Amino acid sequence: MALNISGTVVTALKRANRVVVITGAGISAESGIPTFRGVGGLWRTFKAEDLATPQAFARDPKLVWEWYDWRRGLCAKAEPNAAHRVVAAMERFYHQFTLVTQNVDGLHGRAGSRRMVEVHGSVWRGRCMSCGAEVALEQTPLAQLPPKHDGCGGVLRPAVVWFGENYERAVLEQTFTAAEQAQLVLVVGTSGGVSLPVDLVVQARQAGATVIEINTERSAVSRVAHERLEGKAGEILPELWRRAQLSYLADEIETRARRREGRLMVGIAGPPGAGKSALAEALVAEFRNEVVYVPMDGFHFNNARLEALGLRARKGAPETFDRLAFEMAVGELRKAAGPVKLPVYLRELHEPVPEALTVEVETPIVIVEGNYLFLWPEVQGKLDLCIYLDCDAALAREDLIARHQSGGLNALAAERKYEANDRLNRETVEATRGAAQITVRRDAAGWTVVRAAGTAGATGPLRTAAEGDMMPVP
Ligand code: APR
Repeated sequence: MALNISGTVVTALKRANRVVVITGAGISAESGIPTFRGVGGLWRTFKAEDLATPQAFARDPKLVWEWYDWRRGLCAKAEPNAAHRVVAAMERFYHQFTLVTQNVDGLHGRAGSRRMVEVHGSVWRGRCMSCGAEVALEQTPLAQLPPKHDGCGGVLRPAVVWFGENYERAVLEQTFTAAEQAQLVLVVGTSGGVSLPVDLVVQARQAGATVIEINTERSAVSRVAHERLEGKAGEILPELWRRAQLSYLADEIETRARRREGRLMVGIAGPPGAGKSALAEALVAEFRNEVVYVPMDGFHFNNARLEALGLRARKGAPETFDRLAFEMAVGELRKAAGPVKLPVYLRELHEPVPEALTVEVETPIVIVEGNYLFLWPEVQGKLDLCIYLDCDAALAREDLIARHQSGGLNALAAERKYEANDRLNRETVEATRGAAQITVRRDAAGWTVVRAAGTAGATGPLRTAAEGDMMPVP
């Protein structure tokens, strides 16, 4: 979808290290949870003073709990949407990140957010009216209304902030400190119906932050935002994040290309369906043909093809995968100074390369792609930069851009170099391709295939992978 997202906004997301995201009911609207003040909003259907005040609870705790348990039922049936998932991916990317949510539905937590302040509490917790303890209340519908505290038998109330009640002091300190330090504040899906989001944004602006609002309509926040992206959070956030990540990766690649003599070798690794080709295509477009993309999908490439590409494959390499042939190809690609006869873009390597598809280019950057690039550390050694999609970050070399398990380009959240990447401490990694599954274990001697199942119908390395295969560590 063509969204009107300015370069300023993409640059703000790409350049920031300290980010605050403030969300309201609008971010959960596409998960099917009604907002409060919009069309069909809860305050249009129910009277807040009858249900969401200490007086209402004192008057009729059962009625209040009936309403909250009804909302809990809605929240339990709802799923986090793409916007929640992007906010969780941002948390893994930025050096300093705080999510301030007014929502009590628990969807951010279910999407993976952890560095989060639920300023209005959560419908999934109760607070004892007798001893003040706060307890988890995950079962819905509740067995009894009002629910009782197992510890002391006291009546539990929803652990949320009602109208007329104050925010906890710690919550205000944490949120205003984050706002003061932020370089970028994203405000998503809130009307500013209660003043906290606006107060936080004013504080952040005064401290020099860029403020960007995402909302389907204007709100009380709009007048204090630098940029407004009008539309649904579930559509805008994924696209905005995709562009910011792409732009960040392009900067990384360009910086490294400038620093090194000769050709920069960039690898895109990950299992099938991770979005490698989409990323490669997007990077090729980003570099406007200063890069040539050579997909070596699954390493199952025939050597005749490599020769057709002007690359000498290892003589006699078997028709099927041969990682040394791949390593050779990558090595050749790097060494081949000057014009290189390479395909600009190949989907499949199994039929002869039509001449028209190859170009004579002097290219500073070559992107190669391989499903199992990350399984062979010595191949990594031939690459200057390896972008991992849907791979376990522990597999990445420290100086490379690692990737978190997430799924595809939209949730691409590269770990910044200065953040300590996970060290290689995982014992096994599951590589799957279709029905085939191999599990490798890393130990001092290298990588050992400890399980290879369903490989008969597979292509590439999986077809020949068998228990006990050793892959040396460089
Ligand atoms: N994407 C982005 N924004 C959306 C979407 C969407 N799909 N759908 C609705 N919105 C916007 C609406 O335009 C509105 O500005 O979300 C906002 C929802 O506003 P409210 O219903 O007022 O909810 P919120 O701002 O979270 O209310 C704040 O008030 O009633 C109290 O405790 C309650 O936490 C709540 C607080």
